[in-house]
Amino acid sequence: MASLLVPPASVRGMTKLDRSKFTIVVKLPVMRLGKVNLGRLMPVLKKYTLKMQNFKPIQKYDDANDDDGKIAYLDPVKVQKFEDIDQADKKLLSDNDVTDFCNKYISFNYDNWRYDQVLKAVFPEGAEVPNSYSKIGHLVHLNLRDSQLSQKYLIGEVFLDKVPNTKTVVNKLNTIDTTYRHFAMEVLAGDKDTMVTVSEYGFQYKFDFATVYWNPRLSTEHKTLVSFIKPHDVLYDVFAGVGPFAIPAGCKGNRVMANDLNPESYRWLTENAKLNKTCGNITAFNKDGREFLNVEVRNDILKRRNVGAKGSEHIAMNLPGMAVEFLDVFTDWFNREEAEKVCTNPPIVHLYCFVKLGKEEDPHALAKLLVEEKLGHALTPESLLTIHNVRNVSPNKEMMRVSFMLIRDILIGYKPVAKKLKIDNTGLFVDENVIG
Ligand SMILES: C[S@@+](CC[C@H](N)C(=O)[O-])C[C@H]1O[C@@H](n2cnc3c(N)ncnc32)[C@H](O)[C@@H]1O
Repeated sequence: MASLLVPPASVRGMTKLDRSKFTIVVKLPVMRLGKVNLGRLMPVLKKYTLKMQNFKPIQKYDDANDDDGKIAYLDPVKVQKFEDIDQADKKLLSDNDVTDFCNKYISFNYDNWRYDQVLKAVFPEGAEVPNSYSKIGHLVHLNLRDSQLSQKYLIGEVFLDKVPNTKTVVNKLNTIDTTYRHFAMEVLAGDKDTMVTVSEYGFQYKFDFATVYWNPRLSTEHKTLVSFIKPHDVLYDVFAGVGPFAIPAGCKGNRVMANDLNPESYRWLTENAKLNKTCGNITAFNKDGREFLNVEVRNDILKRRNVGAKGSEHIAMNLPGMAVEFLDVFTDWFNREEAEKVCTNPPIVHLYCFVKLGKEEDPHALAKLLVEEKLGHALTPESLLTIHNVRNVSPNKEMMRVSFMLIRDILIGYKPVAKKLKIDNTGLFVDENVIG
């Protein structure tokens, strides 16, 4: 019976969406409720009623003799006859005179199917259906497999219809801009408009998704990092994108210096600072991260030490594929006299990286080794704050955050690293297990 509640088999192989072809008529078990007090029975009825999109399982009975009576359409997989109902539930129903079962024919159409049901029906039997998407403002972002591309426009139409508040559906193409980290994309359905406004924890971000980086899967991390920033602290965001660390920190009242090399990210970062009324707390820069660190951040920290400023400095480095290559900046950052002043209140670095995991490898250990290797210093209990697993990128690839303090040993320099890492042919870092 379960197989009856799917779109008709005739739609298999469809490449141009014809919504009219998705209608079926099925015979469903129905329970006559009469004029019973529904509130009392609802918890029981909910266990058995049929759940379909845009379908109310409890409806008025269309019998002229019984104008106020209601019926409940039941899920045929769970129940076919009164006896299929749980003993206790059956008693409650009987006590309320609900015992009358019958069958009714009902028609379901395209509007009643979920996107996965539609796609499963049109795809070749057993083929993998696109099972995840990102929603970025009014835009649905897909990453289709090669085998799904022959039906890509149909897939686009289905997502446009089925995902609420969607105006555009795009598919990620196989190219990613390696510097600015935004994806090339093809519009599959809807408006050819990639300008979006996204809300994240109450902050608004406006940007053109075709020209800047945005990843909704980082929203928790954005919130977590900003929670570390206390009153009087300063945030230096080296790879700021359109501002998901910078804007909330600025709105908290913290001073922020935010930088991005992509002129478009810089443009939207500036706009978003205005949009979110960050009260002039954010200064934006459009520089290479190395120059930003060596000039703007360095000078600002020295200025703060000279005036005895309160609070800590947080340096966010969220460019996980490359940020470790910037770590050498810190070992040569200050002369000895400056370093002595700076390390009285060591600045905190939040470094993001990817690690590739072999069998039974610990991502925390790998991330620590990677940072130590690139920094040229061991992260001791004195300097290391946290190593956090940000997200699983793919089966063997994790995005990690390593938060550590630029203590005297790092700024002035001794304690070489103990282990070495090699870079494998995917560009990720793997533990070579070389004890130095
Ligand atoms: C992974 S994104 C992170 C953006 C933002 N922090 C977020 O969480 O959404 C990295 C950003 O670094 C910028 N970027 C890439 N190379 C850079 C460089 N050498 N200097 C400064 N920014 C750079 C990219 O344009 C991109 O916006």
